[in-house]
Amino acid sequence: MRDPTKDAIAGRLAEARRRTLSLIEPLDEAQLNRVYSPLLSPLAWDLGHIANFEELWLVQTIGDREPLHGDLGRFYDAIENPRRTRGKLPILRDAELRAYLADVRERTLEVLDEVGDLGEEAEDPLLRGGFVYEMLLAHEHQHCETMLQLLQMVDDYEAPTGVGAAAGPLPDGPEAISVPAGEHAIGAPPGGFAYDNERRHHTVELSAFEIDRLPVDNAAYARFVEETGAAPPMYWERVGDGWVRAAMGRREPLDPDLPVIHVSWREADAFARWAGRRLPTEQEWEAAHDGLDRVGAVWEWTSSDFLSYPGFEAFPYPEYSEVFFGDEYRVLRGGSWATDPSVMRPSFRNWDLPQRRQIFSGIRCARDT
Ligand SMILES: [Fe+2]
Repeated sequence: MRDPTKDAIAGRLAEARRRTLSLIEPLDEAQLNRVYSPLLSPLAWDLGHIANFEELWLVQTIGDREPLHGDLGRFYDAIENPRRTRGKLPILRDAELRAYLADVRERTLEVLDEVGDLGEEAEDPLLRGGFVYEMLLAHEHQHCETMLQLLQMVDDYEAPTGVGAAAGPLPDGPEAISVPAGEHAIGAPPGGFAYDNERRHHTVELSAFEIDRLPVDNAAYARFVEETGAAPPMYWERVGDGWVRAAMGRREPLDPDLPVIHVSWREADAFARWAGRRLPTEQEWEAAHDGLDRVGAVWEWTSSDFLSYPGFEAFPYPEYSEVFFGDEYRVLRGGSWATDPSVMRPSFRNWDLPQRRQIFSGIRCARDT
């Protein structure tokens, strides 16, 4: 009998790949290879990197096999090759790229058949709880979100159905949620998949605070721009007295009720101050998330630097989180319309530089009480 855990993993790998390929389905090879922004990789790089990361972990490391293309992997190393350089790298393109994705996947499934126990008792920490497979799935989904960032710049692009749920009417409820002073559990509990930066699970003492039930909407942000002369969010264009949203080469009316998106940390911080509030810390966000509406519409900037938790241990490699710890990056929480739901969890930490806004980032305000 086939192992149901392995069947489930194979099914989820196939589903992730279907989603990835559906994103690029409307594009031609020139669009896949074009550099649209120095802040974003050409899509062909992301695709090759998805396959290469899979080959490195699931085929070479777990399956002990040689790579298909010698040391090609060095061009797909995200740390070695900054985004602005990726368009010029001798990476795989066109039919060769598609064949690489398929060939790696075939070998991945061969190795999956061979590997031992994937339960919580497995001896190899990479296999324990299926960690390495969960990491791969999350990686592919996270790169799809990065690809969707670039796809905002592709004229006439139509996102496939099922990517990004409609926001729906705003739910009724109080304006803000009060959280009393006290101890709160932070981070991923033991067992189950989480990245190293979400561990260890620990408690923090928080003072009483209030956090908005909803993220800041376009109407409020437009008032902020009018009153302060702040730069509008990315993809807003002035038309007469108002604004339109101009992504994917289309001009559409700005929905005043939707959460504002594509703002930088600096802009989010300035907005919160203008509104007489402040950004929440990431611990406050996590302590309050059960009561928050619209989590998963936009990534929400927090005031927190991306730092390690007490007892942090890099796993399985320091380049995922550890090299980014410090006061350079700010933490975002939640997830966006472009984030696959399987990646969202209360302890998930995203991070970026305070000036960046090509990501699907928005604002939720807090204040001391
Ligand atoms: Fe990656």
